[in-house]
Amino acid sequence: MTQLPAGTDPAELARTALAVAVEAGDLIVDDRPARLGVAETKSSSTDVVTVMDQRSQDHLLARLGELRPDDGFAGEERGGRTGESGITWVVDPIDGTVNYLYEIPAYSVSLAAVVGDPRTDGAWQPVAGAVVNPVTGESYSAWLGGGAWRTVGDAEPQRLQVAETSLAHALCGTGFGYDADRRAWQAAVLTHVLPQVRDIRRFGSAALDLCRVAEGSLDVYYERGLNPWDMAAGWLVATEAGATVSDLLGGPPRAEMTIAGPPALHAALGAVLTDAVEQVGPERVR
Ligand code: IPD
Ligand code: CA
Repeated sequence: MTQLPAGTDPAELARTALAVAVEAGDLIVDDRPARLGVAETKSSSTDVVTVMDQRSQDHLLARLGELRPDDGFAGEERGGRTGESGITWVVDPIDGTVNYLYEIPAYSVSLAAVVGDPRTDGAWQPVAGAVVNPVTGESYSAWLGGGAWRTVGDAEPQRLQVAETSLAHALCGTGFGYDADRRAWQAAVLTHVLPQVRDIRRFGSAALDLCRVAEGSLDVYYERGLNPWDMAAGWLVATEAGATVSDLLGGPPRAEMTIAGPPALHAALGAVLTDAVEQVGPERVR
């Protein structure tokens, strides 16, 4: 599955990802309407889509169509493309839409070039990607075997490397889905995690959370319910910084669970979560 299509340069894909993510980031900041409304909702009444989510995705679809016409495109919003090159772009046009709606500067554009089938859990893998926070000017990029990099504005890129700490001293990021039953389950699991860690943060953009693990502004992170577009680029950024990113059983991260952290910390949190999931039981569906 990690087989890159012949002639593909993952470093070049990462440069493309970064360049177009920066463009879309500028678009969502510069063209934000004075009164940003909610255009529609998806899985629940709080799972919002703004006009700018769609515009950002349309921009990314068009630009990648010009730059990489043979690649596929799978985004969070409406519209996509089937490709022939063996590369698919997995795109979150605004990750942290609720933060965007409230003008909380913790949202991002997330883009990853992946191999395999991103619609099937465990059947795909990112090979290059970028996550851009257009408000703070922070951007993260990575490519397979090329390391993870953070840039602020025009400054020189910094290479990222995770560092271990004990679980008791770990600042742990997490997030919550939009569905009420999912949230009740997540809250129950959280009561098992909270006493074991330094503290918990919920920033509201899974893509940035994974990049935070890479840079060390979170020690470890977990969440149930992530979609491929939430995790694709951040997964690679974290991995290339030396983190382990997996599900509860050590397989590729998937909707059921994503855990990211330096290897020993990842294992320690994984053990707590395994125990918590067993005690909490399955999600209740009302
Ligand atoms: C959400 C964010 C949030 C996470 C949710 C995601 P969206 O994506 O990444 O941090 O907790 O699970 O759905 O809806 O803002 O693109
Ligand atoms: Ca998202």
